[in-house]
Amino acid sequence: MQEETRPAGPESSDQLKASGASGRPYVYGNDVFKIFKVADLEVVALRGLDLKVEKGEIVAIIGSSGSGKSTLLNILAGYDTPSAGNIYVGDYDLLNMTSKEVVEYRRNEVGFVWQQTARNLFPYLSAIENVELPMMLAGRDSTHRRKRATDLLALVGLGNRMNHKPEHLSGGEQQRVAIAVALANEPPLLLADEPTGELDDETGAEILELLNHLNVDMGTTIIVVTHDPAISTSVGRAIAIRDGKTSTEIRRVVKEGQQIGGEAAGAAETEEFLLVDASGRVQIPREMIDELDLGERLRVEIVDGRVTLRDIDADDTEKK
Ligand SMILES: Nc1ncnc2c1ncn2[C@@H]1O[C@H](COP(=O)(O)OP(=O)(O)O)[C@@H](O)[C@H]1O
Ligand SMILES: [Mg+2]
Repeated sequence: MQEETRPAGPESSDQLKASGASGRPYVYGNDVFKIFKVADLEVVALRGLDLKVEKGEIVAIIGSSGSGKSTLLNILAGYDTPSAGNIYVGDYDLLNMTSKEVVEYRRNEVGFVWQQTARNLFPYLSAIENVELPMMLAGRDSTHRRKRATDLLALVGLGNRMNHKPEHLSGGEQQRVAIAVALANEPPLLLADEPTGELDDETGAEILELLNHLNVDMGTTIIVVTHDPAISTSVGRAIAIRDGKTSTEIRRVVKEGQQIGGEAAGAAETEEFLLVDASGRVQIPREMIDELDLGERLRVEIVDGRVTLRDIDADDTEKK
């Protein structure tokens, strides 16, 4: 869509990947379900989730613990498959990939950063060796590896820590290396599952700022998960997941002269929108249900061109 349209041939997966010739957003999830079976119990982790992310966007996924954020990210990373629905990244159909395609997808299309700093890096390798490793596995030659690893570490602000092993790096520095590792093979999509979860607020904010910079500088599409709603002031768009479904979207209100991403964060204002899915379903935020003590039946009306919801019990009292 935003890139040049390339011919798609099944033998040229390289061309297939970035084409956008499908007309879909780059990341496109529609009515995605994920059900985990634990003994005789079924846990519905995603229930009809929709997601659209355009190429080059940076999007935050927010939601309380257990809302399905990691489940979604693991599916996007190719670590897990949905139980039902449609989910595509570029022209990869994540529901229907052969095991060979899964390997190719993980190697070429996505980079992943885990919350646990220790999980991202090999402890016995230096920072630069950690960044070189994925390139080695992808068969890149040593000159390319060394140059790209050096460049990436400089880019994430660790030019002077390249030969340190993880144990001699702070948590924030380790996450910076992890981001460099994830970007080593130039994936178009970077996924980060609560990369700031183990960091203090200030260090966490620096990591988010770094992700914003990388998004702008390299054009990498980034999806970053967090349970911290404050993130919505530092990225262009945040999507809230509630009970396994995308529920609301928070967007920065851009004032004149202000740019999305980068430094402009500060006291930026945000606005929250309710998402309407393809079947017309919406989820009323719990806080609003509680505030008005809404019951199970609401009267839906159009009043002066606005859709209004009224508790039928409230009609008499005119309280709500
Ligand atoms: N492998 C699994 N087996 C069983 N249940 C799981 C598994 N992974 C996640 N769940 C359940 O799915 C729901 C969503 O989990 P998760 O995606 O990890 O949430 P979040 O990352 O938002 O905290 C939770 O109820 C969790 O217990
Ligand atoms: Mg999680």
